[in-house]
Amino acid sequence: SELQDFIAGLPKAELHLHIEGTLEPELKFALAQRNGIELEHSSAEEVRASYDFDSLASFLTVYYDSMRVLVTADDFYDLATAYLTKAASQNVRYAEIFFDPQAHTSRGVPFATVVGGLRRALVDARRDLGIHAELIMCFLRDFTAEHAMSTLMESLPYRDWILGVGLDSDERGNPPAKFAAVFARARQEGYLLTMHCDIDQEGTHEHIRQVIEDIRVDRIDHGSNAFERPELVAAIQERGLGLTCCPISNGWVVDGVKETEIVGLLEQGVKVTINSDDPAYFGGYVAENYERLAEVAGLGREQLARLARNSFDIAWLSGRERERYL
Ligand code: HPA
Ligand code: ZN
Repeated sequence: SELQDFIAGLPKAELHLHIEGTLEPELKFALAQRNGIELEHSSAEEVRASYDFDSLASFLTVYYDSMRVLVTADDFYDLATAYLTKAASQNVRYAEIFFDPQAHTSRGVPFATVVGGLRRALVDARRDLGIHAELIMCFLRDFTAEHAMSTLMESLPYRDWILGVGLDSDERGNPPAKFAAVFARARQEGYLLTMHCDIDQEGTHEHIRQVIEDIRVDRIDHGSNAFERPELVAAIQERGLGLTCCPISNGWVVDGVKETEIVGLLEQGVKVTINSDDPAYFGGYVAENYERLAEVAGLGREQLARLARNSFDIAWLSGRERERYL
């Protein structure tokens, strides 16, 4: 359609993308074979047919289990190269990519293997595909704050390869405040800060308040429940915080696409952006996420262009680089 072509043509930045969430079933089989790992399914189609998530927890179980096939630096290289190739084909010019080191170090894969493979893919893609990408290290919030702190220390030799730190995994019972000391130390080390806020139930507004007021993040991942609290919207505006929203992911892990909240915030001038989160599991890369939101909310070109512009606006780019895209 014409709107699809318009979306495809927009230069975009992707700011909320878990690299482990881009593991397509075909690559999962190829890596399993390369590493001599048995899988419970016998084909990529069978794997895809098994995806039926009704909550974050049901998704996370499958997401973490699949990571068994990621063993060598080449595996991480191939994973990131596949994503960057796809993203470049959708006119993503710049990407900030989350990775979950603890999901790998906790099963014996060294930090250096993960970050080394990913970094090499980013460098090669910039040269070969013309797409610029950077890394954001996420801590798993269902692990202890002490485990996050030791992971932060482990990352310091790679400080120049990592823009910032985030917080993901199961939010229930794991509030932002649990990681206040870790994030304070991360800021001292020069990292920028973001955290997921997508619980969408009792406690969500308090979590959003904590990330803004107590953690003092540089942006918020998801966070669209702020729409229900004018004082949170005001605080987000005041600090100029961007939100990285993920419509198709919302459809799987919370109740619906959350278009009322996303578009409501956009119309109030909040720097809302559209992203794919875990595209191999939720069935849509960034262009499909713009399309889904446009479809359910009836968006036109002006709003879609504003969303794409916001993505460069709130990206963690230097001033000079940002100007090249805006
Ligand atoms: N939410 C929380 N944690 C995650 C997600 C998500 O969508 N994807 C990977 N880790
Ligand atoms: Zn996410």
